Formats: sequence, C-alpha cells, structure tokens
Amino acid sequence: MAAPSVLISPRLSERAIDPPADCQLCPRLAAHREAMRARQPGWFNAPVPGWGDPDAWLAIVGLAPGERGANRTGRPFTGDAAGALLFATLAELRLASGFPAESPEAGFRLDGVFITNAVQCLPPANKPEVAEVHACRPFLASRLRSLPWLKVVVALGQVAHQSSLKALGGKLPKHPFAQNAVHRLHTGYALVDSYHCSRYNQNTGRLTPAMLREALETAIAVGAEHGGER
Ligand code: URA
Repeated sequence: MAAPSVLISPRLSERAIDPPADCQLCPRLAAHREAMRARQPGWFNAPVPGWGDPDAWLAIVGLAPGERGANRTGRPFTGDAAGALLFATLAELRLASGFPAESPEAGFRLDGVFITNAVQCLPPANKPEVAEVHACRPFLASRLRSLPWLKVVVALGQVAHQSSLKALGGKLPKHPFAQNAVHRLHTGYALVDSYHCSRYNQNTGRLTPAMLREALETAIAVGAEHGGER
C-alpha cells in the first residue's frame, strides 16, 4: 500500500494557529525541510508563520514560502522578488512603512495588514500538492479567525484563492478565481483575487505592478464599505 501523502493527526486541532517547527503532517514537505537543513544550515528551514498587524483588517494569502525568500529569512515574502513587488505596492498604498524590507530586521512594518501563506512549509519546485494544501488549511483558517478585525482577504493566485475561500467558509463553484474579482461571502468576509506576484508572473507579464496595485485598491475600497480600518 502506498504511504499516505499527508498524515492527519487528531492532536492537531484547528486551534493550533501555526504548525510546530518539526511538523510531520506532510511527509514530502518534512523530508524536503530536512534536506534543506542539511544543504543550508544557516537558513530558517521550518514552517514559516504569518506576520503583520494583529489588528489587521486585511490579510494577504500567498502560496507557500519561497526557497530563498521566506524559507531563508523566516518571514513570508521577505527576501525575494515576489516580496519586493508586494511590499513596494503596500508601501505605496500606505499599508506598510519602513520600506525596503529585505530582512525581518529591516524595520519594515505592516499597517492594518497581515500576511501569510496557504502552505507554511517550503514545497519542492514551489508546487505544493493538493493534499498538502488541504493539510495546512486548518492553520490558515485558525490564523484568519485569530484576527478580530479582519474584513478582507486578498488571495495571490488560484491555490491561495481556493484555500482561503474554504478557510473563510465559502464554496468554490460559486466563487471562481478571476483577477481583481470581489467575492462577498455569506460569512461576512470579502475575498479579492490577484494573480500571484511571483518573479515568473512578473517576467511574463501575467501580473503587472499596476494589476497588483489595482487589486489592493479594490481591497481598500471593499474594506472601507465595511467601515474601513477598525
Ligand atoms: N513568498 C511567500 O512567502 N509566499 C509566496 O507565495 C511566495 C513567496
């Protein structure tokens, strides 16, 4: 019989906000983490917790840690091309200050914003498997639920869209991914979509800086309908 691709532990309840540093729920990701620890002992190489303003009205959900970004520095989107565009755009929109933010020590802060990922461990080739996204969703759900002022979630890419939608209590066929789409969920949250700001999408033009900015401006407008920041 083939080994299961994820191990569901009854001890990991939905109340655990972040996975433990040696999370074993996804054997493929745990093995990759061990290989990375051997190859790059000075890097973070553990599930990367979300970070930002605990009073955030807006959460941004990415895919998974980038190898040389979040997996190296220990903070989502910090230290790679995806983060450089995301953080610059947030700073332009006054959702962050202290730019640039190439390391967690750089003094960059998010204002009203929290950033996390659909999957908290580094996936080989930047591609988490469906079962891994599923296994990590309870952490995403409990993180989003831990933000008392949360109103709007921006999902970066299809995987983040699907996982955030489910984490927020929405249903997929009713809410397909589309650039700059706003999904108003019966649970009271709004989900806004954008293509992911990966280096690949930037280089191919699938996502331009203007498109990312527009999606974040949509999120600001939707947040304002809900009374804006707290
Ligand atoms: N870095 C992250 O933390 N998440 C992504 O989705 C991409 C880069």
